[in-house]
Amino acid sequence: MAKDKDRKTCGELWDEWKQFMWNPRTHELLGRTASSWGLILLFYLAFYTFLAGLFVLTMYVMLQTLDDYKPTHQDRLATPGMMIRPEGDSLEIIYNVEKTESWDMYVQALDKFLAPYNDTHQAETNKECTADHYFIQEDSGEVRNNPKRSCQFNRTILEDCSGMKDRYYGYHDGKPCILIKFNRVIGLLPGKDKQSPYVSCAAKNEDSDKIGELMYFPPNGTFNLMYYPYYGKKAQVNYSQPLVAVKFLNITPNADVNVECKINADNIGPGSERDKFAGRVSFKLRINRN
Ligand SMILES: *[C@@H]1O[C@H](CO)[C@@H](O)[C@H](O)[C@H]1NC(C)=O
Ligand SMILES: *[C@@H]1O[C@H](CO)[C@@H](O)[C@H](O)[C@H]1NC(C)=O
Ligand SMILES: *[C@@H]1O[C@H](CO)[C@@H](O)[C@H](O)[C@H]1NC(C)=O
Ligand SMILES: *[C@@H]1O[C@H](CO)[C@@H](O)[C@H](O)[C@H]1NC(C)=O
Repeated sequence: MAKDKDRKTCGELWDEWKQFMWNPRTHELLGRTASSWGLILLFYLAFYTFLAGLFVLTMYVMLQTLDDYKPTHQDRLATPGMMIRPEGDSLEIIYNVEKTESWDMYVQALDKFLAPYNDTHQAETNKECTADHYFIQEDSGEVRNNPKRSCQFNRTILEDCSGMKDRYYGYHDGKPCILIKFNRVIGLLPGKDKQSPYVSCAAKNEDSDKIGELMYFPPNGTFNLMYYPYYGKKAQVNYSQPLVAVKFLNITPNADVNVECKINADNIGPGSERDKFAGRVSFKLRINRN
């Protein structure tokens, strides 16, 4: 009996199953009509095609724009900014010659900043280049020319401001050195062949009688052409930014002196009104003596 009933149930189930698979009366396959299936397939086909297309498009765009050696976005400043070292608070260098603790931090900051410029370190990491010529190391077509070498900037070039001859950079006798750097811009070629850009500093209007005599290192305050172009942090791992040091030889003590240094290169225009830091840097210097 039980066997019969089981067989019957099995038969019923089988019929139901068959009918589910294909119902000849309603023409339904797996419970759906052909047009219903068609719509579903069409929907998924369109959906996945769209997804795949989106993926391919994204990858394509990414691979087109991605370049390990160049930032995808770089601020297109016509004239890059300049910075001074030591930095001080809000571009003010104020100290008292007689109080070592008032200028010691400047000396320490310069020591730290100049450490990578040590001659021995430069000789180990960088190349001795031909001065007064751009150091061009282009990629040839798709073939990368990386890593690229960088030129030596020996600390001793800064002479009296190198911290080697005078380890207090003149701060102890009221003739301080200020280092000036020109922000890196990939691919920039300042100056032109044989004419390096140079820095000049002057007092702002009413302070001009107080600034006294200036001395520049390297001579004429030049950023030699061999340090350009810059190819980026990844391509030029050992790049040393060139520096110019300005030594204030007889600045009037106990007075605020507002100084502005700017870069001079015939292919670098003056900064626009909108960006007053372009191509120039202003700072206040006050040297107190008791
Ligand atoms: C650089 O040279 C100075 C003076 O010779 C030395 O005191 C300093 O430790 C050196 N720094 C590095 C990082 O080698
Ligand atoms: C930098 O100093 C090193 C070590 O004294 C020297 O071999 C090299 O010629 C110097 N480089 C330049 C460009 O003066
Ligand atoms: C960078 O400096 C290291 C030593 O610190 C040197 O081995 C390497 O060759 C240098 N790289 C380039 C591209 O000059
Ligand atoms: C500095 O500039 C003067 C005048 O332009 C020039 O005669 C001299 O050769 C320059 N000195 C150096 C070391 O570039």
